[in-house]
Amino acid sequence: MRRKIVAGNWKMNMNLQEGLSLAKAVDNFMQKNESGVEVILCTPFIHLAHITTLFKADNIYAGAQNCSNMDSGAYTGEISAKMIKSTGAQYVIIGHSERRSYYNENDELLNEKIIIALNNDLKVIFCCGEVLSEREKGEYYEVVKAQIEKAFSGISLSDFRNIIIAYEPVWAIGTGVTASSAQAQEMHFFIRSVIEKMYGKEQSDKTVILYGGSCKPSNSSELFSMNDVDGGLIGGASLKEDDFCKIIESFKGK
Ligand code: PGA
Repeated sequence: MRRKIVAGNWKMNMNLQEGLSLAKAVDNFMQKNESGVEVILCTPFIHLAHITTLFKADNIYAGAQNCSNMDSGAYTGEISAKMIKSTGAQYVIIGHSERRSYYNENDELLNEKIIIALNNDLKVIFCCGEVLSEREKGEYYEVVKAQIEKAFSGISLSDFRNIIIAYEPVWAIGTGVTASSAQAQEMHFFIRSVIEKMYGKEQSDKTVILYGGSCKPSNSSELFSMNDVDGGLIGGASLKEDDFCKIIESFKGK
């Protein structure tokens, strides 16, 4: 049995007060939730140190959405993995398509960020996924395979155990267009086969693979019911308490 995870990616939303109130509400919900689902709130940096002290539920964790590829020093405006860890956060998202496209983060840089995050005892939620033109040209398997191989180059099996993968087709992010459950399942199955080649069958069976891209209460149950879909990375719907809690509940029965 793989872990079931619902992660919220707040992106650049929520001031401190709004964020604390949302985190408290999700924590209250999680205190009563006995389904075994783990929840990770990936908030802006400014919330992390606060929300980790207010969590009371067992299965709720905090994560950042990015970290520097450098250890420390004269890098004005950057936040290091060590600083994130010191807030009590346990996770960091690396490789989100918005970072790749708006901040020109390439595979080599992402590999450096993954290594530095792991070296600082953070767990990584690594995002991969093709853009629309790559989907239309039928290149999506090659694109995702290359993203994974480059990101994890030089990463040992014992380090890889601290990685969660999020498949996020870029054409589905924030667009309202979701991948069908069949499209998600076939890609997740494929990703598992890529991991098997790199790290062996036992590890590929254990690796958590989340789906992200316009996941909402009306489609989460169907997506999460797929064999190789172990949960979701939720953007827009993670900002609304009701929607996010409904998505967490949609695992019931799996
Ligand atoms: P979305 O974003 O749920 O708003 O499509 C998902 C993500 O970018 O992680």
